[in-house]
Amino acid sequence: MLRQQPLWAAGSSSLSLSAARLARLLVHLVVLAASMPFAVATYGTLSDESLARIPTAGADFDIHNGKLLAPILIPRVPGTPGSRAVQQHFVRFFQEQLPAWEIEWHNSSAKTPATGDQLIPFANLIFRRDPPWAAPGDVARLTLAAHYDTLYQPEGFIGATDSAAPCAMLMHVARSIDAGLTAKWEAMKAAGEAGNGLEEERGVQIMLLDGEEAWVKWTATDSLYGSRALAEAWESTPYAPLSTFSNPLGSISLFVLLDLLGARSPNVPSYFQTTHWAYQRMASLEKRMRKLRLLASEATKQFLPESGKAMSQFARGFVEDDHVPFMARGVEILHVIPHPFPSVWHTMADTAGNLDIPTVDDWAKIVTAFTAEWMDLDGMLPSIPAQHEVRETAKTEL
Ligand SMILES: *[C@@H]1O[C@H](CO)[C@@H](O)[C@H](O)[C@H]1NC(C)=O
Ligand SMILES: [Zn+2]
Repeated sequence: MLRQQPLWAAGSSSLSLSAARLARLLVHLVVLAASMPFAVATYGTLSDESLARIPTAGADFDIHNGKLLAPILIPRVPGTPGSRAVQQHFVRFFQEQLPAWEIEWHNSSAKTPATGDQLIPFANLIFRRDPPWAAPGDVARLTLAAHYDTLYQPEGFIGATDSAAPCAMLMHVARSIDAGLTAKWEAMKAAGEAGNGLEEERGVQIMLLDGEEAWVKWTATDSLYGSRALAEAWESTPYAPLSTFSNPLGSISLFVLLDLLGARSPNVPSYFQTTHWAYQRMASLEKRMRKLRLLASEATKQFLPESGKAMSQFARGFVEDDHVPFMARGVEILHVIPHPFPSVWHTMADTAGNLDIPTVDDWAKIVTAFTAEWMDLDGMLPSIPAQHEVRETAKTEL
């Protein structure tokens, strides 16, 4: 991460490119605006009772020995042992704890301006859960993304907010909705509602992306190595004829990108007019959870304070990040990144010790609530004690 200027403040040579990209986007925006009220109306609100069932990650976010977060807090430069260790951490977690999730690798390689003729490997990991009866091309997927690579320099850079903590948050989201998804789909089967074609098939996928960082200096080719390769590959991999969606890119109902999260008192603006309604849903969940005293951080204001932003206020640029190759192809984006960036951004101070763990935990709960609401899991989430029992049982079986 990344360049913080508005697109049209970039150098003059990129100005025309940006204008073309913007024009393309505007076309998509018009089309999507027409279908927006429908998308807004198709899912209900999570009850207070369901909100109270959103688990905290607790000790699993401990920076020294927490099962989710601690293993990610090492340098993760693409192609290095640290990167491979973290990939294995993600894969093992899903294999062992969440076996219903499909695991997909998307590998590519590229030269970087820092490493000459050497081909550097980049590996995106996608973890996906679809309704069990649905064909892959018929599922609209809420897509939650974060990047796991770290800067090539300064050497030893950990990137605790950039983006170790967001990766751990997404692991927590997956395990916190897993039982609810199973319960919901079982209930649909029992009621004869499975695959009856009356409702959109909804799935969820978590993308842990590689190669987001620039190796020398942020440019269109020295950045976003993993997400550029993935968006391109998915666009050119058609689903079977007569599928609801033409390719995996088209199946993304919303691309929620988490980045630079974990520092105290973040201020996350609403960046995009077309997904402001989704921003409002997340902000409303945050507000309700605070009021119900379900969040732990000491915040003087909301993490997501811009619910009331007027449509006329959306004229400014955005932060370049992993969503760019997807956005350029018409995917709808919710960018959850603070502005200003954390003060430790791209410095050796972006360490585990500088994370504010209550803030990390709160983000994990807010994004879990957003995902549970999107997936219509009201009444489907297990009670917190039951969740503990499940985990205890799993432990003794192992
Ligand atoms: C992708 O690369 C990783 C190593 O980074 C490797 O473990 C994995 O097997 C590769 N997967 C595929 C499908 O090539
Ligand atoms: Zn970065």
